[in-house]
Amino acid sequence: MPTITVNASSKYNVIIGSGLLKNCGEYVKDVINGGKIALITDDNVDKFHGSAVYESLTAAGFDVRKFVFRHGEASKCHETLIRIYSFLAENHFTRTDCIAALGGGVTGDMAGYAAATYLRGMNFIQLPTSLLAQVDSSVGGKTAVDIPEGKNLVGAFKQPALVLCDTSALATLPREFLIDGMGEVVKYGMIKSAELFDILMENNISSIGNIMEDIVTRCVTIKRDVVEADEFDKGERMLLNFGHTLGHSIEQYYNYTGISHGCAVAKGMEMITALSEKHGRCRKGLTDTLLECLKKYELDITVEPAPSALGAACMNDKKRMGGSISIIICSDTGTSSAVKMSTDEFTEFLN
Ligand code: GLY
Repeated sequence: MPTITVNASSKYNVIIGSGLLKNCGEYVKDVINGGKIALITDDNVDKFHGSAVYESLTAAGFDVRKFVFRHGEASKCHETLIRIYSFLAENHFTRTDCIAALGGGVTGDMAGYAAATYLRGMNFIQLPTSLLAQVDSSVGGKTAVDIPEGKNLVGAFKQPALVLCDTSALATLPREFLIDGMGEVVKYGMIKSAELFDILMENNISSIGNIMEDIVTRCVTIKRDVVEADEFDKGERMLLNFGHTLGHSIEQYYNYTGISHGCAVAKGMEMITALSEKHGRCRKGLTDTLLECLKKYELDITVEPAPSALGAACMNDKKRMGGSISIIICSDTGTSSAVKMSTDEFTEFLN
């Protein structure tokens, strides 16, 4: 099975393959030295994978306690986090015990933040079950919860000790979640790999499931390289934000309802590429190439948010530093750079 080693402030493996969840105990015991595991998951994922993971971890000798919360972004908040802390305290978890995040980005981000903060840090492993979590959020150590003022505004860096990307879990995903994750996959092709982008152009949403192990491996390899170059998000890692500054503003504009993260990022990538093309900053025709790819993966970008409202929302972006904002621009597929703009320049660029 493809194994990608991440050499960040701590070193860990990301293992990619089919059937990993039902055998996860075997892999976890290689990196976690016995003790208790808090298995944190949501009610949807629990139905599909909860028992298999619980049984495998128990068979490997761990004392497993499960915490299940209601699925959805609305749960990624301080209220759920406090319930997790209480659960850990009531079950007498110690710093040498472990939190296992089983699920998508919401679970991984929130369970990771609990692991970063409870007792000032516990062991942590990621068992991502969504495409978005496998290719992006489970790798690289970003953890967070949302506050009413914005997504992921409170968080910490906490690298996991192990990530198991079970590609067979992707088969249980509703189609809209696969589409959602493809937004991030297209992003990787645009920012770093023309080869990945070409593979995406040769496939579509119906055929891509047949080559998921290769797709996840390519994306995680890119993410690993970027994280190793800039773990704490001061430079190179910002490239992963392509389409996200506008995408997050679009999600906020629509109150996080009616548009998925993947479609908002797709719209953000399309808008920034069209603007780059208009300002002569990328290959002529790149917007059409990107649009063709987004269509293959049914990423709906028909929303038309007002650019003036987006400009204001972008000012809350986490990548903003002082009076400037770093905008990620692709000059062609596989080639990206960060362009620093003053907030006035950015507003002008948007209009
Ligand atoms: N998801 C973007 C990052 O990990 O930096």
